[in-house]
Amino acid sequence: MRRIQDLAILGAPPLFPEPLHVGRPNLPDRDQLLARIGEVLDRRWLTNDGPCVRELEERVSAFLDVRHCVAMCNGTVALEIAIRAAGLSGEVIVPSLTFVATAHALQWQQITPVFCDVDPRTHNLDVARVEELITPRTTGIIGVHLWGRPCDVEGLERVARRRDLVVLYDAAHAFGCSHRGRMIGSFGHGEVLSFHATKVFNTLEGGALVTNDDALAGRARLMRNFGFEGYDAVGYIGTNGKMNEISAATGLAGLECLDDFVAANRRNHERYRRGLAGVPGITVLRYDDAERCNYQYVVSEVEERLTGIGRDRLVEVLWAENVMARRYFYPGCHAMEPYRSYFPHARLLLPETERLAARLMTLPTGTAVDEATVDRVCELVRFVVANGAEVERAVARVRARALDMP
Ligand SMILES: Cc1ncc(COP(=O)(O)O)c(C=O)c1O
Repeated sequence: MRRIQDLAILGAPPLFPEPLHVGRPNLPDRDQLLARIGEVLDRRWLTNDGPCVRELEERVSAFLDVRHCVAMCNGTVALEIAIRAAGLSGEVIVPSLTFVATAHALQWQQITPVFCDVDPRTHNLDVARVEELITPRTTGIIGVHLWGRPCDVEGLERVARRRDLVVLYDAAHAFGCSHRGRMIGSFGHGEVLSFHATKVFNTLEGGALVTNDDALAGRARLMRNFGFEGYDAVGYIGTNGKMNEISAATGLAGLECLDDFVAANRRNHERYRRGLAGVPGITVLRYDDAERCNYQYVVSEVEERLTGIGRDRLVEVLWAENVMARRYFYPGCHAMEPYRSYFPHARLLLPETERLAARLMTLPTGTAVDEATVDRVCELVRFVVANGAEVERAVARVRARALDMP
């Protein structure tokens, strides 16, 4: 890419023939996966606490060094069940800079998500702000380990102990990550994982509650299966949160390859960091290499004052080239319905969330993205930023011309 007119946003062909997605699924070894699926079919035991689900639960518990893993059909239902099984009600403090499922899982059961601002360095809940939001109606805190980087778990748990609150974590991003040498999964009263197709490790759709709390795990297990305590005996309200056997089989095959998935992510992350080093206004977020990280998210901050081109325009330019960069998590839950209507002034309490939501850009990685591709994406970003103001003007000219057309 040498000339501005070669940009696809101005009408040239795209740099990549096929879309490069953020979170294109990592696939396990095909033969292993098909062998496991064959066994499921041979058994004709497709769901309802089957042997693959049980084995996956055991493997995940052992990997995370946590007593219980309750596998579920997805992370959102796992959150809903965890929230209900933990007895949350009234108000629960959550970040707004997260996937909307974190807030929905509360609102779905008439619990008010109280949006809290984040620490601009970590992108996770700011403990001092959390404390300010506690009211007599507050029953808990849900921290989100955003991008797999741990929350300030010591700070949150100190506040929770003092104020007698439940702490859950949305660890949807954090499978295979550690904090101070301890795997994420055993912090707080419980943690919720997502094994969605876009995550570092997937079961097609899936998720789990992991916890050291025997009673919480027991309630979640019953709630996942309609509340059945035995044949024809229902103890309390439940739902259908069960994971099926094909998903669990996919997970078992995927666990064998997890190290390879993480290695590909780490390689790409390093390559992006090197490839974008020194680009004014673009900062790629770092992970703590002393901990276990899954490197699943290549998150950058775009500072328009230095790039000369806004984050949104940069994303538009990349999309035109088939680089499907994402604005995770724009605009923040507080700016989406129904929360925008419920809390019209929430943004005033969320300056860091608003600032980050306007600047963050996540780039494609995973096993489907190789080093040469990362290099080309970096080269493209370098070129666009080097010519930021001019690209903005050229796009404006082309758009104005299009409007003039009869
Ligand atoms: C932070 C966060 N929480 C919750 C979820 C919901 O998980 P699932 O898609 O498995 O329902 C996701 C993503 O999908 C997420 O990114």
